[in-house]
Amino acid sequence: MRLNQLNSFYKIKNLAKNDLSLMDEVIKSRLLSKAELIQDVSYHIINSGGKRLRPILLILIAKLFGYIGNRHINLAATVEFIHTATLLHDDVVDHSNTRRGKPTANLFWDNKSSILVGDFLFSQSFLLMAEDGDSKILGILSKAASIIAEGEVKQLTASIANLHLSIDEYLQVISAKTAELFAASCQVGAIIAGASVKNQQAMYDFGLNLGISFQIIDDILDYTSNSKTIGKDIGDDFKESKVTLPIILAYKNSNEKEFWERVINDKNQREGDFQLALEYFNKYEVVPHCLKLTKEFLKKAKLAISTAPNNEIRSSLIDLLEFSINREF
Ligand code: IPE
Ligand code: IPE
Ligand code: MG
Ligand code: MG
Repeated sequence: MRLNQLNSFYKIKNLAKNDLSLMDEVIKSRLLSKAELIQDVSYHIINSGGKRLRPILLILIAKLFGYIGNRHINLAATVEFIHTATLLHDDVVDHSNTRRGKPTANLFWDNKSSILVGDFLFSQSFLLMAEDGDSKILGILSKAASIIAEGEVKQLTASIANLHLSIDEYLQVISAKTAELFAASCQVGAIIAGASVKNQQAMYDFGLNLGISFQIIDDILDYTSNSKTIGKDIGDDFKESKVTLPIILAYKNSNEKEFWERVINDKNQREGDFQLALEYFNKYEVVPHCLKLTKEFLKKAKLAISTAPNNEIRSSLIDLLEFSINREF
């Protein structure tokens, strides 16, 4: 299962291999700085790997619509910079200690370093956009960066210690903090390839629905995976009393409302509570219910991409949808 997944992911990644290497060169060249800490922190997170999903989407969608040129390299670096900056900031906010199989920058250095270097990466992304010079793309990616920040703030105020968070509110948070950048990456790929406005919108929809499913799966994996496979600590969401889809569904019809109120609303957690939460997830078949919802978004993503040219790249993007739901990392 895991081997199959790995194979299917690397097969997809392979289609963008050369462009990703060029992108990595761009990224490295932009990290040369007079402030040594910038290089240290950025290399730490960037060289730890990461799936490079957003650049892969941008590159493959540009190719899907027949793009020939080199703008996609810098734009791929742009979306990876935005993503990496949000990860540095997110790990501070979530008090996370492991990322991409290594200690987070906030643990290895400190919060201040993560925040300031995150800001540097954001500013590099804006420089790259300015150099590209397309005001439509500048608008789309700036808006995405702003929506991600809003999503993280909304999560801070609405999802922490709040068992009344509705599924709709949850979906709004994850659409903003995660799916918007997937959507924007896909849309930008279509724009540089000169796809029609209708296709640009279809690729935005493809990315948005893929991104929503991707985050639902991430929220399941935060309970069910293991840190070696996913490269992050398991149970961070629970520890933070962050309400995500598994908790919304477990709480809804449960006979254990007092348990959830204590551990989530009162943030009063004891040893063994995480294990209990997992037992209640099993009892109410939370994971299959989450997967059912994920599949609805995947269906929408599949529909959106059905208008694109039917070629090898399109099938690999459909494989990417399958990977995103079956993944363990
Ligand atoms: C992590 O994204 C943040 C979420 C949106 C869940 P990825 O899972 O794409 O992280 P990397 O880049 O592969 O490390
Ligand atoms: C995604 O949410 C955060 C961003 C998109 C910035 P999570 O907090 O669930 O991501 P991980 O689990 O830390 O990677
Ligand atoms: Mg986090
Ligand atoms: Mg997570």
